[in-house]
Amino acid sequence: MKELIKKLVETHGPSGSEESIQAVIRQEIKGFVDEVRVDALGNLIAIKKGRGGKKVMLAAHMDEIGLMVTHIDDKGFLRFAQIGGVSPFILLGQRVVFANGIVGVIGSEKIDDIKDLRMEKLFIDIGAIDRPSAEAKVKVGDSAGYWRPLDDLGNRLVAKSMDDRIGCGTLIEAARRLKNTDHEVYFVFTVQEEVGTRGARTAAFGLSPDLGIAVDVTRTGDTPKSITMEVALGKGAAIKVKDSGIIGHPGVKKMLVETARQAGIPYQMEVLEQGGTDAGPIQLTREGIPAGVISIPTRYIHSPSEMVDLGDVEAAVNLLVKVLESELAF
Ligand code: CO
Ligand code: ZN
Repeated sequence: MKELIKKLVETHGPSGSEESIQAVIRQEIKGFVDEVRVDALGNLIAIKKGRGGKKVMLAAHMDEIGLMVTHIDDKGFLRFAQIGGVSPFILLGQRVVFANGIVGVIGSEKIDDIKDLRMEKLFIDIGAIDRPSAEAKVKVGDSAGYWRPLDDLGNRLVAKSMDDRIGCGTLIEAARRLKNTDHEVYFVFTVQEEVGTRGARTAAFGLSPDLGIAVDVTRTGDTPKSITMEVALGKGAAIKVKDSGIIGHPGVKKMLVETARQAGIPYQMEVLEQGGTDAGPIQLTREGIPAGVISIPTRYIHSPSEMVDLGDVEAAVNLLVKVLESELAF
């Protein structure tokens, strides 16, 4: 699965500019489903036809956080707005890449006190000498994401946009392994999650499923003096109890736990105090849809070096496949 993950994380795709990542995912999944389509917002929906079972919507967002050019000055430096949860402390000194492959460096105005390091002090330097030469490469409104290749640390992988390409990889791998199910399964690769779970909202309304399961990253409490949280890297797939956007449907949560327990799949319970996923809007669609979340424990979320454990990813894929092969009693 490492090859697939590498391909997914190294592809460009800030919220609203998901064209490249959408094409990669389509290529990877099309041989394993009956139909692939794209809806009005750009959500990629891959369908495995059912045999009289339930209608299941799986959601993983394909967009990543990033920057959007707001202004280009006379010397060719770019000012930007943020796309999703980007921090100036993490941005400083990073490289970013635009859809056309142009790479830029994040520089900063002179700062005397670190507390003054705010987004408006930063700019992108693409090596241009003036405004026309910058505009020949990048325009106002273009978006950049972090530029970083995947590093393989053995059982742990580090990359940009594990949030949520690791969820996309989990769905693709589950589609490949899923053989025996009566359920109609919609593998939905959503757009614009990082700016407010927008794609999942319209996709859920359009599909009106019997069950929704989002696969996304979650934080961990296992690094020096971190937040207090039970989830740790390497201890299995996380089954969400609560985050800022959802209190998981009790029946769905129980089904996930029972399935993991019976199949001997390592799992841990997740209570995330800040943050949400696509399951939030899915659950609140129409008259309400039972929804749950399988999370991949991830360190350093929203940095260019998000770290996951391959054992946890494997556990998430196995759990998803087992659940889809079950009767879906919730
Ligand atoms: Co995120
Ligand atoms: Zn995410």
